[in-house]
Amino acid sequence: MTTVLITGANRGIGLEFAKQYAAEGADVIACCRAPAKADALNALAKAAGFKVMALDVTAPKSVEALKQALAGQPIDILINNAGVGGPRGEAHGTIDFDAWVETLKTNSIAPMLVSLALHDNLKAGKLKKLVTITSTMGSIAGHGGGAYAYRASKAAVNSVMHGLSKEWAKDGIAVGIYHPGWVKTDMGGAGAPVTPQDSVKGLRAQIAKLSAANSGGYLDYLGKEIAW
Ligand SMILES: NC(=O)c1ccc[n+]([C@@H]2O[C@H](COP(=O)([O-])OP(=O)(O)OC[C@H]3O[C@@H](n4cnc5c(N)ncnc54)[C@H](OP(=O)(O)O)[C@@H]3O)[C@@H](O)[C@H]2O)c1
Repeated sequence: MTTVLITGANRGIGLEFAKQYAAEGADVIACCRAPAKADALNALAKAAGFKVMALDVTAPKSVEALKQALAGQPIDILINNAGVGGPRGEAHGTIDFDAWVETLKTNSIAPMLVSLALHDNLKAGKLKKLVTITSTMGSIAGHGGGAYAYRASKAAVNSVMHGLSKEWAKDGIAVGIYHPGWVKTDMGGAGAPVTPQDSVKGLRAQIAKLSAANSGGYLDYLGKEIAW
């Protein structure tokens, strides 16, 4: 059975990942920072029979506790999905320094922290796939101004994950860096054109195709390459 660990699985794209992988028969480990409040995820987990585990990706102690709890457990697919939209409107005044730090912690540093913590689990898995949900807004080539913290955080995580694709090739781990589309979630807003269902269906297809041959690529949910 394929084991898939998802961060930020209580809502949005993460919840849909849990839903679709559970429906496909995978063993899902759904992580979120407040399991007691994760009503939709808990209902799904109960119906599908999978585990919900506590994880605040920005808290090293929480990441370490997850690592200890999962010691010896093989993971086939690790999906770094948790993210925040960050502050906006910086060019019109001063910056919100703390909000920038929070954005970089969540979107750039935490995926590295979680990946390192679960490196042995991935090495023990059969599929050995490390996936990070980034954004086209991480493209420096495509930067049109605005959303500076979010764009910088996604450009940074692209760099981190591209680097890991080189370093962890020796372990047989393939790394996918994927934009989910502009998706109708709390982050994407009601006007977004892509449903979580279609986004995750496309992302799962890219994850299925992820291999040593295309490791480290920056693609959207339909498999289109994005300029760095
Ligand atoms: N929606 C879009 O159009 C879009 C476009 C491009 C990229 N993305 C990326 O796709 C990913 C998922 O986004 P989404 O649209 O599903 O957003 P969302 O609906 O706002 O959900 C964000 C998820 O991340 C979790 N999270 C945030 N900080 C966390 C932390 N410190 N520890 C653990 N979990 C944390 C949230 O948990 P809480 O409920 O506890 O806050 C929530 O589960 C993000 O990385 C985002 O940048 C989204």
